[in-house]
Amino acid sequence: MSHAEDHEGTRRDFLYYATAGAGAVATGAAVWPMVNQMNPAADVRALASIQVDISGVEEGTQLTVKWLGKPVFFRHRTAKEIEEARAVDVDTLIDRTAQNPNLGNGAPVPATDQNRALDEDGKWLVMIGVCTHLGCVPIGNGSGEFDGWFCPCHGSHYDSAGRIRKGPAPQNLHVPVAAFVDDTTIKLG
Ligand code: FES
Repeated sequence: MSHAEDHEGTRRDFLYYATAGAGAVATGAAVWPMVNQMNPAADVRALASIQVDISGVEEGTQLTVKWLGKPVFFRHRTAKEIEEARAVDVDTLIDRTAQNPNLGNGAPVPATDQNRALDEDGKWLVMIGVCTHLGCVPIGNGSGEFDGWFCPCHGSHYDSAGRIRKGPAPQNLHVPVAAFVDDTTIKLG
């Protein structure tokens, strides 16, 4: 990010503050009204890159932010979620690719938990919250049969790494272009 380039007027870098309440919100849907209020620009270019403050997102909760017209999940995972996700044999997965544009130069990489989490320890999982079947927003907070996300539209179960494990969805939940700016700020785009 260049502050010189992104000066006021261009409005390309917004900082979204995760309030204490936002971190505790149970589902993506519930947070929409707040996120929409915080979205100051109709101009899509204005949202090409945003920064999200995750300092208020407690372990075991998820923050949902609207970005480029889609919900993005910021999950602060528990040790149990991480452990479960890392114990999975990638060869048993429906979609064995990580669906993570932050790795390599577009070549598919295996869908290990390490290849999907944003940090080495796996505490943070950032994903586009759109079911890869027909585009519903899955329910989070350990939902479904695999302790992750569940899409009630047609019954897709995603595990705690957001990987499709059961149901009609063909792919793992996609990881967006994302990176840590500092310990409590994640940049999308
Ligand atoms: S849209 Fe999610 S299961 Fe069909």
